[in-house]
Amino acid sequence: MQHHSKLPNVGTTIFTVMSSLAQKHSALNLSQGFPNFKSDQKLIDLVTNAMNSGFNQYAPMQGNLELRLAIAHKFEALYHTSYHPDSEITVTAGATQAIFTIISTFVKPMDEVILFRPAYDCYEPAIALNGGKTISVQLEAPLYKVVWKEVSKKITSKTKMVIINTPQNQSGTIFSEDDMLQLQELLKGTDIILLSDEVYEHIIFDAEKHYSACLFPDLKSRSFIVASFGKTFHNTGWKLGYCCAPKELMVEFQKIHQFNVFCVNHPTQKALADYLKEPNHYKELSTFYQRKRDLFLSLIKESRFKFTPAQGTYFQILDYSNITIENDVDFAKRLTIAHKIAAIPLSVFNTDNLDNKVLRFCFAKTDDTLRQAADILNTI
Ligand SMILES: Cc1ncc(COP(=O)(O)O)c(C=O)c1O
Repeated sequence: MQHHSKLPNVGTTIFTVMSSLAQKHSALNLSQGFPNFKSDQKLIDLVTNAMNSGFNQYAPMQGNLELRLAIAHKFEALYHTSYHPDSEITVTAGATQAIFTIISTFVKPMDEVILFRPAYDCYEPAIALNGGKTISVQLEAPLYKVVWKEVSKKITSKTKMVIINTPQNQSGTIFSEDDMLQLQELLKGTDIILLSDEVYEHIIFDAEKHYSACLFPDLKSRSFIVASFGKTFHNTGWKLGYCCAPKELMVEFQKIHQFNVFCVNHPTQKALADYLKEPNHYKELSTFYQRKRDLFLSLIKESRFKFTPAQGTYFQILDYSNITIENDVDFAKRLTIAHKIAAIPLSVFNTDNLDNKVLRFCFAKTDDTLRQAADILNTI
């Protein structure tokens, strides 16, 4: 049987490649972005309670109502803005499904979608599957700041969507208030939709502030804000997230969502709704991860790696140009096989595989793992 791949250039993701290599060589895995510690036992018990209390059948299509109310409450409390739980919030199977569905809802063949590289890897295949064209803006190492003049040159009558991600995976940088204002100015008067991937909104350091797109009225009117419970509550395997958007955009999203998954895992939604009655966890998350970032960086400060501390996310970029001229993919493989530590080479997320000689390390790990990682990195 002959068939034509709809994604001929997509192979196994670098996360799978590096994680399997790490497993094969019994290496410490700081490559993929997930915690190696448990989420709160109280939250795990609430899932059992939800199952025992009968939350085992389909949830409403938009998500468990109590959870949507808790999400609406969070937006009021943190950003002083409102999303209506009935018509402007949808609970999704992780941020990934929200992103895929948003892109499928709006992007038609020949539409252009602007994104910033090094970008998280689920955006581009979704654009391609819908016949759209990715227009890349490369963020330049080491600071990974946006040059808005460059973005403005790429906006055309074909631009359907702009995708931003702050705090940003892969670089660990954030968009400032000024970045968001410049973006707002650029999009004013257009019909361009903004997909604002904010899955690391609660992981931001050094007293910096997260500037959600919902804080800027003109941006909010055209935005989907995407969030992930997995990143916030240390349970990425539950694949639970959500998105918020003005009613007229959400109506279109839900037309696709209902045939994409209809609804998502009910007991975990109910458990999170109960857990969020005491919304302390996300308020403490930045302090929790900043301590880990600082521990990791203080342990490797005498090493040959160079770094600028991450501003957000649980990823730290390390520059290895003092160590070798190898390309980042080869160096990442050698580190895993010979030194037993796995990280992610960033070139695979850059325009034309630009190699800045940096690797990305995930510090959502126990202190013990971070110490072991530092011991290795200090010998290289
Ligand atoms: C920037 C970004 N967006 C979306 C996701 C996907 O989130 P989820 O696991 O909730 O699907 C991730 C996960 O790594 C991410 O880093």
